[in-house]
Amino acid sequence: QFDGHHSVWLFGYGSLIYKADFPYLQRRPASIANWTRRFWQGSHDHRGTPEAPGRVVTLIEAPGAICHGMAYLITPEVFAHLDHREKNGYLRLATPISFEDGDGDGNGNGDDAAAAEVAGAAGAAFSGAAGDGSGNQAGTAAGSVLGLVYIATPDNIAFIGEASERDIAEHIARSAGPSGPNSDYLNHLAHALRELGRDDAHVFEIERHLAELASRMART
Ligand code: BEZ
Repeated sequence: QFDGHHSVWLFGYGSLIYKADFPYLQRRPASIANWTRRFWQGSHDHRGTPEAPGRVVTLIEAPGAICHGMAYLITPEVFAHLDHREKNGYLRLATPISFEDGDGDGNGNGDDAAAAEVAGAAGAAFSGAAGDGSGNQAGTAAGSVLGLVYIATPDNIAFIGEASERDIAEHIARSAGPSGPNSDYLNHLAHALRELGRDDAHVFEIERHLAELASRMART
């Protein structure tokens, strides 16, 4: 039973921004520091196939960068469900999450006790995470909570890596998987970021090339 003591904040920066088909307690625009979104991860199971993987986003370390997205307050049971759904190379990473309104616990009343609970939950779930289960927010700035994010690191077998935005657009244009065309994923993400009022040069540049490719295809 959910009593407010075992919830965890999850930061979404890809499909989780626009598709939240799981139960959550809160949903809030948020960001994380020192990471940047890149279409460098292969998708064998959603937007491509094992023979022809599509391209989806992961986070790459980038000191000083800010990655904007959406944070969800969810229960550990929901995490277990997402872990299964989002496998394909992604691991959970503990990270400070800042809410766009600057309110540390995300409940809008300035009560920091809830934020401490979240830090404790994240620390308890992941040994070696920054949270120590005591409620101390080691390493988090004022106005942020410790939460979790799915990240696919370069050492996972599905990782594809860097390419120009034009080449990534061409890759996306020819890819599709059980969840649909890879281009739908890109276009939904670009649309969701625009709705959040967030510029993402990498995503918008791929979107532009993809639109160009589509109009070229329509003319031939
Ligand atoms: C995300 O939107 O944050 C996400 C979705 C699926 C896998 C990894 C990350």
